[in-house]
Amino acid sequence: TNIILMGPPGAGKGTQARHLVETRNMVQLSTGDMLRDAQASGTEMGKKVAAIMAEGKLVTDQIVIGLIREKLQDGSEGGFIFDGFPRTLPQADALEKLLGEMGMKLDAVIEMQVDDEALVARITGRSTCGDCGEVYHDQTKPWPADGKCANCGGTTQKRRPDDNEDSLKTRLMEYYKKTSPLIGYYWAKGDLQRLDGLASIDEVQKSIGWILGD
Ligand code: AP5
Ligand code: ZN
Repeated sequence: TNIILMGPPGAGKGTQARHLVETRNMVQLSTGDMLRDAQASGTEMGKKVAAIMAEGKLVTDQIVIGLIREKLQDGSEGGFIFDGFPRTLPQADALEKLLGEMGMKLDAVIEMQVDDEALVARITGRSTCGDCGEVYHDQTKPWPADGKCANCGGTTQKRRPDDNEDSLKTRLMEYYKKTSPLIGYYWAKGDLQRLDGLASIDEVQKSIGWILGD
């Protein structure tokens, strides 16, 4: 099964993708994570995108398509979860072409609907584990009081430089200008499924399971 998780920043794409990796043996392809990894390891590309990402703008199609192309070669038994990709129409075209070349297809595009007000709270309260990537939220899923990640025991709680109100505003504008047109595009193709992203993490999990035919 190959799916796209689509939704504005903070919709819960990463949270749900991690669950699908654990339960369905799928591979998560998050272009945001790949770009952050490139920064952390100090590659030329990583240095080039750092300022753009901190500001909340999209990096070039060419860079992210290259990253996805590379990861698709590795294959995945349980299928791929595209998380944060595609974000523009050229990226959607490139994905269709890449999947076609490999004899694969998209099974569903899942739009996680949330309202903008909720996103500010989601983003400004987010932290992640520096060791395993588990996603936390100051109110809804707090970092354990003993200071250790509930998933791996790690002690590094991280916050993203783009998780502030200014960058979020830019990220939202980029989303509505460049990414949201994809929703109509996938709807017209008959691939679109929508769910209420404001429901609890467990409930969203269930909705996705239902869409995937559990
Ligand atoms: P990226 O890393 O993709 O960030 P994003 O799209 O802004 O998405 P987020 O990771 O912020 O949110 P999410 O939906 O995964 O939410 P999460 O599960 O963490 O991209 C970052 C940057 O990289 C871009 O701005 C761009 O510069 C660049 N980039 C990446 N891909 C690109 C591309 N294809 N093209 C061009 N540029 C690209 O949840 C958020 C918070 O809410 C967490 O604290 C979580 O615990 C909480 N939460 C989650 N679900 C629930 C729930 N149901 N109820 C209550 N709380 C919840
Ligand atoms: Zn951890």
